[in-house]
Amino acid sequence: MALSRTALLLLAMAAVSLLSADAALSAPATKVCVLGSGIGGSSVAHFLKQYTCESATAPCIDDIRIFERREKVGGRMATVTIGGDTFEAGASIIHPRNLHAVRFARLLNLNTKTGDDSDSDPKSNVSSSSSWFGIWDGSVFVFQTLPPPSPSSSAIYRKMYPLLNSLVLAWRYGFSLLRMDRFVKEMIERFILYYNDFESRPVFETVEEMLKWSGLYGLTHRTLQEELADAGLSSRLVSELVTVITRINYGQSVSISGLAGAVSLAGSDSGLWLVEGGNWQLAAGLISHTNATLHLHEGIDSISYAGGYYVLNSTKGNSYACDVTVIATPLDELNMTISPPISVPSRSLQHTFTTFVRGLLNPKYFGLNSASEIPDLVGTLELPDIPFSCISVLKKYSEEDMTYKMFSRAQLADVLLDQIFSKRKETVRINWPAYPHYEAPEVFAPIVLDGFHLYYINSFESAASTIETSAVAAENVARLIISRISSPSANAPLIISPHSAEGILHTDL
Ligand SMILES: Cc1cc2nc3c(=O)[nH]c(=O)nc-3n(C[C@H](O)[C@H](O)[C@H](O)COP(=O)(O)OP(=O)(O)OC[C@H]3O[C@@H](n4cnc5c(N)ncnc54)[C@H](O)[C@@H]3O)c2cc1C
Ligand SMILES: *[C@@H]1O[C@H](CO)[C@@H](O)[C@H](O)[C@H]1NC(C)=O
Ligand SMILES: *[C@@H]1O[C@H](CO)[C@@H](O)[C@H](O)[C@H]1NC(C)=O
Ligand SMILES: *[C@@H]1O[C@H](CO)[C@@H](O)[C@H](O)[C@H]1NC(C)=O
Ligand SMILES: *[C@@H]1O[C@H](CO)[C@@H](O)[C@H](O)[C@H]1NC(C)=O
Repeated sequence: MALSRTALLLLAMAAVSLLSADAALSAPATKVCVLGSGIGGSSVAHFLKQYTCESATAPCIDDIRIFERREKVGGRMATVTIGGDTFEAGASIIHPRNLHAVRFARLLNLNTKTGDDSDSDPKSNVSSSSSWFGIWDGSVFVFQTLPPPSPSSSAIYRKMYPLLNSLVLAWRYGFSLLRMDRFVKEMIERFILYYNDFESRPVFETVEEMLKWSGLYGLTHRTLQEELADAGLSSRLVSELVTVITRINYGQSVSISGLAGAVSLAGSDSGLWLVEGGNWQLAAGLISHTNATLHLHEGIDSISYAGGYYVLNSTKGNSYACDVTVIATPLDELNMTISPPISVPSRSLQHTFTTFVRGLLNPKYFGLNSASEIPDLVGTLELPDIPFSCISVLKKYSEEDMTYKMFSRAQLADVLLDQIFSKRKETVRINWPAYPHYEAPEVFAPIVLDGFHLYYINSFESAASTIETSAVAAENVARLIISRISSPSANAPLIISPHSAEGILHTDL
């Protein structure tokens, strides 16, 4: 397990004496330790190996350990089983232009499914009708799209349905919808620069640098609401449809920062997809493809810099020596000791309570006569008395028996659920420390936390939190590690520009 200090010292001395002979051949393989087996941790392992072992320019990095404190890999990509069926419990949808995720799925031979809704499971029979959504203000539906065609409706109507629904939307929100579309497209055009080849894309040492390079930095400095007002969107579109979307995707209002907001809106585009059987397979597949050593159910409690390497102590009482340590999980709610202490801007996480119910919604709660009148997706306005952000049908077993998914900012008590549902056979609750609570202007934690080889992928989450943003941030961290370990000033501290403004609270970890 643990390499003793002396053993390491001897190794280091041996390496130094051999270095003079032939650096490339005799340098000891870099040991990399990764905390977290989500998409961030699995991607960084994948890119480290791909960019070194598959190229002739850098010594192969294949001594990679991944530590995961839970019993399963995937982190916020996880499934839940209710009523005998399995659904996505965390990250559920992936944008068609999320190229890393697209390539991972192809590389790993995973089957994918597309859906046309932001939050229903395309495997269920709901997919064709998932564009039936309503906006609930706590007492009435202020707007809703057309209910799906019934099997008895004419073929013409069934064909026209999507078009008619677009017209219904256009009638309410007008040209503002096109402006919203343009706003999202501009963000995506900038984001895809992160897939440029190495020659035209620098290695970034800070998130600020990374965002400024693509032109996305400004969006993190203003609220979504301000950005959309400048883009010419009507206040009705912002307070209704946009609000519904940000509440669904980030559990927050339109006062979130502009980039997170734009990313959230992209999550209502068409062509969204997921991995059949669960998105967590992206992480699981990358880890096994990379051949990294996976330590499941072993969390890291402390990271100590020991001069040239790190000692990681785990919940199993083991110690590990690592040349490079990558933190691939948000530090905000972690009780981990890092010594010497590092300092990152304080950031609070938005908790999203995910409640799965097998049963039937109570039409009376919505002032309706029959459950069949309730839209498949109920979004809500930003009003204090509405206890949930959304409810969606995941699967219809019959007109009386369905599985639903709800998001809320607080735990939904049984008493409340008994008002919202007329029948409730099974309930599963998950409290996710889901994503950052977005507040413009965002401040970013460093990527290189200690100036040496302690890296932090999830500083990028303050820009936006998705499967793809984690993969993009991890890819940059992999390149940064490779460039810094192969540079002659490998152990010289990186000079981090004093970007963090005065008056910002810092939490010491
Ligand atoms: C309800 C919900 C819905 C979402 N919907 C979407 C969506 O539709 N599409 C999308 O793209 N994104 C979505 N997201 C966001 C997305 O899930 C995250 O951005 C992404 O999965 C983050 O991946 P990560 O690897 O950075 O972190 P995580 O997935 O959180 O992985 C971190 C891992 O580190 C482990 N860990 C923590 N501390 C330690 C320790 N001390 N030692 C060892 N291991 C440790 C954790 O157990 C965890 O497995 C959603 C998130 C939530 C919560
Ligand atoms: C994977 O790791 C094992 C054990 O470390 C090793 O024996 C095997 O050769 C590796 N395979 C690949 C493809 O790297
Ligand atoms: C890590 O474990 C080693 C060996 O058990 C111990 O000597 C050391 O104090 C521990 N470090 C921390 C920071 O807990
Ligand atoms: C961290 O420690 C605090 C105080 O000791 C405790 O309340 C909290 O639950 C701990 N959090 C985790 C994630 O272990
Ligand atoms: C869902 O669709 C499948 C296949 O089309 C069908 O066999 C099944 O009966 C449907 N279930 C419901 C509840 O409509």
